[in-house]
Amino acid sequence: MAPDFVIFGAAGDLTSRYLMPALVHVIKAGYLDPTVSILGVSRQDWTPQQFRRHIADRLQQHAADADPEIIANLLDRLDYRQADVTDRAALSSVFHQVKGPAISYLALPPSLFIPTVETLSDLDLPRGSRIVVEKPFGTDLESAKRLNRLIHDSFDEGAVFRVDHFLMKQTIQNILGLRFANRIFEMLWNRDHIERVEITWDETVALERRASYYDRSGALRDMIQNHLLQLLTLVGMEPPVSLDARELRDRKVAVLRAVRRYTPDEVERFTHRARYTAGQVGAVPLPNYTDEDGVDPELRTETFAQVTLHLDNWRWSGVPFVLRSGKAMAADRHEIVVHFRPVPHLAFEQSPPPPNVLRLQLNPDRMSLGVNINGPGNPFDLERVELKTDCCRQDLPAYARLLLDVIEGDTMLSIRDDEAEESWSIVEPILNAWSEGRVPLLEYPAGSTGPNLA
Ligand code: BG6
Repeated sequence: MAPDFVIFGAAGDLTSRYLMPALVHVIKAGYLDPTVSILGVSRQDWTPQQFRRHIADRLQQHAADADPEIIANLLDRLDYRQADVTDRAALSSVFHQVKGPAISYLALPPSLFIPTVETLSDLDLPRGSRIVVEKPFGTDLESAKRLNRLIHDSFDEGAVFRVDHFLMKQTIQNILGLRFANRIFEMLWNRDHIERVEITWDETVALERRASYYDRSGALRDMIQNHLLQLLTLVGMEPPVSLDARELRDRKVAVLRAVRRYTPDEVERFTHRARYTAGQVGAVPLPNYTDEDGVDPELRTETFAQVTLHLDNWRWSGVPFVLRSGKAMAADRHEIVVHFRPVPHLAFEQSPPPPNVLRLQLNPDRMSLGVNINGPGNPFDLERVELKTDCCRQDLPAYARLLLDVIEGDTMLSIRDDEAEESWSIVEPILNAWSEGRVPLLEYPAGSTGPNLA
């Protein structure tokens, strides 16, 4: 029997902006069993009709092109219960209504994860139930461990989906194919041939009315602790034997374990933080970050973070991995760039050409390899060319793929308990040194290429 959905936080933005449009795609692609119902739960005093109307309204904005028949199919499956996630009796009656196993989706503010899981652990959920937890999974190592312990009171690890929508982006998944289905890259994928790796997620978007979450999070927690460390695991991992959930996640967590935990001195050497000041992104003027609605300047939250990590293992010893992400930047730059070392000897009588560079770019999704070949005219003059290919278009948006894995019970691309904890243990020494003021909080004008890190 296919489990029903129970969405906690049904009145929130995540539900209407991401989950409902994703469900539209999943239904359209024929992946949602006709018997599956979707029960929204939140504190809003709504009737089921009001909930359906709210979702229908929001879908006009977030799934404007969707087929009306598919929207009707989704709306027909929706039901609604008003409940507080800390109210045991109310949640017990929610699960009575569902009857069989359910997928509990925590589309909630992070501060409600622990209280909700605590309430769930008091209930006797039917076998086959699953839970989906959005990021951020905790706010530090201790809270992540606590959340894991509480979740395990009610769910086996195989029923837990700590989701990271970056892993659902097709071009990110292509890292596996590129690395492990080609002889030419894997043989060179190590410290002998690679000089450095850059993983960059610069965004033009700024705060987007998310101060209540973002101002207590910042770029390091929001992007690097989860999304960018996940990309690092795919670039850095050893070849897996198969793509099963345990194997793949064993290989990923081994990368996280290899990342050096920094001393405060190393945090000073290898990390940077900054926040934007007033400026203009394209035609959009932005105020100082500290003047944005809901921002508390005392929190000294960074909107830009750059950390250079080192993996202490045979494959990567000495190769810096530069992870960086900033908001309100001049341009969207989402890419992984692998810089190869220069050739050991150049027979050509000219200044050395740039070393090979492999670039995996998102939005637009494209891969390119910079190579040096004999140019036109004098064939012994080298010329730089870029071998480029567009990556295939994503058949389903990232959130729909994520739901598909949850529906199919496939945890391969969900974050395992130990991965979440290892990621926090990498980031925590940085957060601590930053809160002690060991690394200056720089500034950069909104719409620029970021702070001057020289
Ligand atoms: C989210 C972060 O997880 O990812 C946002 O909280 C960020 O701050 C977003 O903008 C980026 O994801 P995407 O898929 O929109 O590039």
